[in-house]
Amino acid sequence: MVSMCFLMLSVQGAGKKTLKNTVGKSFLIGAAVTVDQVSGKDKKGQQVAIEQFNSIVAENCMKGEVIHPEEDRYFWDDADAFVDFGNKHGMSVIGHCLVWHSQPPKWMFTDASGKFVTREILIERMKSHIFTVMKRYKGKIHGWDVVNEAVEDDGSFRKSHYYNIIGPDYIELAFRFAHEADPDVELYINDFSMAKPAKRATYCKLVRDLKSKGLRIDGIGMQSHNGRDYPDLKEYEASIDSFAALGVKVMITELDLNMLPNPKNFGGAEISQTFEYDKAMNPYASGKMDAAGEKAFYDRYYAFFDIYHRHQHQISRVTLWGVSDNNTWLNDWPIKGRTNFPLLFDRQYNIKPVTEAIIKMFSDKK
Ligand code: XIL
Repeated sequence: MVSMCFLMLSVQGAGKKTLKNTVGKSFLIGAAVTVDQVSGKDKKGQQVAIEQFNSIVAENCMKGEVIHPEEDRYFWDDADAFVDFGNKHGMSVIGHCLVWHSQPPKWMFTDASGKFVTREILIERMKSHIFTVMKRYKGKIHGWDVVNEAVEDDGSFRKSHYYNIIGPDYIELAFRFAHEADPDVELYINDFSMAKPAKRATYCKLVRDLKSKGLRIDGIGMQSHNGRDYPDLKEYEASIDSFAALGVKVMITELDLNMLPNPKNFGGAEISQTFEYDKAMNPYASGKMDAAGEKAFYDRYYAFFDIYHRHQHQISRVTLWGVSDNNTWLNDWPIKGRTNFPLLFDRQYNIKPVTEAIIKMFSDKK
């Protein structure tokens, strides 16, 4: 009798299959969340986040321009709420991001007269930013994207203000400061177009150099803002293997699948790259893709998760860059006002067929 009750309870408790209770057994499965999802203003989005994901990252509220609007003023409200939300729901909370050329604190690189500051001043500012933000969330965050997008697709270092003013050692300094600020937290480097061989090679060398200097680096984030015909899947897998061979965790950190036509010369995920609206570039404005689009979406997502499944011993986390198609940056980038379909839950927050297939893939195959 007792065991019968127990059996019934556990069957009930097993409940429905979700991403987090299937895929989440192989690696963390995460989503970038907005402030509205955290606050509950976007109630449905919040529910999907809680039900389906065991990790979250802040889509915007921890970026320099938001969290550190003036040199002597931080804005904590949204980031605090985000971290509390993740902790309350037992999720692995990821901090994004500390040193990035886009969305930086507006005042970071210049003095009162608008002139670029010296190397010494920028190092001090960068250190102070890293220390203040990381120490506030010590013990509440699983890992930080310390440096974001440091390398160009051709493998050269991005000539950001950090690079130009401090020099190439800004990366090493950022990791040094981050480890000093919180010795217990994981530290990552993150970028887009990580399947490009030249970019892969530079990251491999960089991570080896950092490690040989005794610096802590736990993982490499492959953003994975993917499209219908990019990246090349073989090159993508080669990057997973090469990064894993360095002895760091491989993380898929910003996964989405752009289903819309791309303007000429478009590539990667540099957020300053924008184009004028053009009706021809918004073919599914009605809110539904055609059958060919649906099939391409399904096959392509399935192929990515098949890769993650086969490489699960190397991958520690797969994070989607958003919860549902209703709330994705790809509706507005690189062209504003389009209707895109990049995520695993649709505009009505319903689970998509491929998401169910992915859940099945991770339930069936061990
Ligand atoms: C994007 C956000 O999704 C947008 O809301 C914002 O307007 C611009 O930034 N690479 C990154 C992310 O590391 O932080 C970017 O997020 C997307 C590209």
